[in-house]
Amino acid sequence: MRKWKLGFFAVTLALALTACGTKEEKNATPTPAPTEAVQPTATPEPTATPKPTKAPKPTATPIPEFTETFKDVYGEYGLKAGTCMSEFMCNDSRSQEFMKKNFNSITFENELKPDYILDQEASKAAGDLVVSLRPNTLKMLQWCKDNGMAVRGHTIIWHSQTPQWIFYDNFDTSGNLVGRDVMLARMESYIKQTFEVLEEAGYLEMFYAYDVVNEAWLDDGTMRPSNWLSTIGEDYLWQAFYFADKYAPEYIDLYYNDFNEQFKTEALYNFFQTLKDEEGNYLIDGIGFQAHLYTKDDMDLYFAHMDKMAELGLKLSLTELDVCLGKYQDIGYATDQNKKIQGQFYYNLISGIMDRVKAGTVEMNSLTFWGFADELSWRQEYNPLLLDRKWQPKYAYAGALMLKDYAGFEEVTE
Ligand code: GLA
Repeated sequence: MRKWKLGFFAVTLALALTACGTKEEKNATPTPAPTEAVQPTATPEPTATPKPTKAPKPTATPIPEFTETFKDVYGEYGLKAGTCMSEFMCNDSRSQEFMKKNFNSITFENELKPDYILDQEASKAAGDLVVSLRPNTLKMLQWCKDNGMAVRGHTIIWHSQTPQWIFYDNFDTSGNLVGRDVMLARMESYIKQTFEVLEEAGYLEMFYAYDVVNEAWLDDGTMRPSNWLSTIGEDYLWQAFYFADKYAPEYIDLYYNDFNEQFKTEALYNFFQTLKDEEGNYLIDGIGFQAHLYTKDDMDLYFAHMDKMAELGLKLSLTELDVCLGKYQDIGYATDQNKKIQGQFYYNLISGIMDRVKAGTVEMNSLTFWGFADELSWRQEYNPLLLDRKWQPKYAYAGALMLKDYAGFEEVTE
């Protein structure tokens, strides 16, 4: 049976790879660097704000304190509203209040990543990969439970924030890389234990989605090099979903999650069609759009990607939304004008999504921001989030709530 599955995979993967072609890399964004625990110290606003060339316009409509909450507004469309949560946010009362008021879904910024849950000493002792939850992860899980949060698991198979010793003989990088069979056995054990340890700790039921694989494809439509790929081979992604499908409870949707998604449409579209069992049923449930975007991104291209992915009949989620001012390596300053453009971007993006959800052309079950306050963001120099450095709502906040009157549509000068 398994042999048959592998044969099936090989044919479909070969077809997919042929179809992928050699698309030019359009956006050489490096994989986001592993997030350091973000210090809560406020980074000053960029000081080099260009001098206005025209007399300033009359003051815009002030942004009010909003009574609407993200979870209520998105809930009307059947979506959960989420944020990532760092250990700092989990322990900070101002962040806690904001999260409790606004969100009903949490993704851990780091604390369920491979380098957090894989234990080298225990693995050496057991002769198998050992998954264990650290005290800070358990504390965050308990906070979610106490506050009725649903959780998106993030992430199992990834090239980054993954300890390299897992790929070596005796779990020691001074030796050789293991072969395919050993690594497949380790992958199966790792995926199985991930769900087991969460269940044993009493938290698995909070999880409604899990990013089984993160960032495995490059912008040019080829597979990203990693030791998962070099030890197991090109079917490692199929294997990961096969094991996740085998061990995860039915109520957890299994996701593939990626960034620069709008530049990888063809490769991803072909790839998802290979993730099926021998009866033709998907091993995957959903596609995660990280949505690390820029105000200068092409919205039409983004929606074209979304509409194409929706044709696959899988669920879609925005999993790490933030919208930087400017574009990659060309930061826009936090001027009122740029912040208005950002407010418009959030409005156009989220209302465009909700229109599709309402029309039934896109099935989306959650929309997660990668944080909420600029000073806590991994891309804080781009001011990508909803609250400014003083924790005041930005146009982006109103835009994300689809409150057009406050989203910065008036008085923008180009
Ligand atoms: C990627 C990952 C996230 C996070 C960000 C940077 O998008 O999926 O987990 O590491 O990079 O914060």
